[in-house]
Amino acid sequence: MRIITTIKEMQHEAKTMIREGKTIGFVPTMGYLHEGHMSLVQKAREKNDCVIMSVFVNPLQFGPDEDFDRYPRDLKRDELLARKAGVDVLFYPHVDEMYPKELTTMLTVNKRVDTLCGESRPGHFDGVATVVMKLFQIVLPDKAYFGMKDAQQVAVIKGLVDDYNLPVEIIPCPIIREEDGLAKSSRNVYLTPSEREESTLLSQSLNAARKVIRDGERDPGLIIELVQSYLKQTSGTIDYVEVLSYPELQPVNRINEEVIIAVAVQFSAARLIDNTMALRSEKAIGV
Ligand code: PAF
Repeated sequence: MRIITTIKEMQHEAKTMIREGKTIGFVPTMGYLHEGHMSLVQKAREKNDCVIMSVFVNPLQFGPDEDFDRYPRDLKRDELLARKAGVDVLFYPHVDEMYPKELTTMLTVNKRVDTLCGESRPGHFDGVATVVMKLFQIVLPDKAYFGMKDAQQVAVIKGLVDDYNLPVEIIPCPIIREEDGLAKSSRNVYLTPSEREESTLLSQSLNAARKVIRDGERDPGLIIELVQSYLKQTSGTIDYVEVLSYPELQPVNRINEEVIIAVAVQFSAARLIDNTMALRSEKAIGV
């Protein structure tokens, strides 16, 4: 596995791969890797000749009061895990390499951001779209792999790719969970032991919601109440519980077709998000 830290070298390496007729699968991450990331690499390995992973904690997507400075970082550990998973190139640029001066152009996401994490994290998805656009120009991937835990991010990035006709296929991948149901996340390390125990209520609430929808309930208001009744048992503060169309992320009056049920709970130092799809076909992602 090669570690590349400069944009020039990364672009050169990607162009060489393309010239040699190799396809590139790309796994963008902010590091502190876990099994969720590993599953993205595994999927990328299956369908591409080369796998490039980026590890970059992107300051543009953090608000002033968010955890950019204390976001967990451990390159040595990431390097070991990426190598073991079969990554060919680890792209690990410094902030000054990605943003040597103030950007003259910033992307603004207009749709799908007035709800869920977009509502409580203003500007977050502008930062995500901007860095992803930049990373795509540097890594030149055929396919890019994103976890459905950040379902809103996947919807926003699909919009970006459609808007700008980017020649990359976005592959959404299922949420990977701990044995007790907690969705894997780099931020889970912030949980206190008691919060970690309570955190299983997120996935339990979503499973209960999916079950009652499968049994015929069609009222989104009742589903939201049901999910809230679980989350209120935690010591955290509920940020949102929503039932929305996907990928449009619009409220629905009745659950007649596929919806996303999405939750966010703020614990003392960790903000956890989770979601599930309901009324989705057997083969689809996230079920
Ligand atoms: O999902 C993440 O880890 C980040 O938002 C991403 C896509 C790598 C952009 O910084």
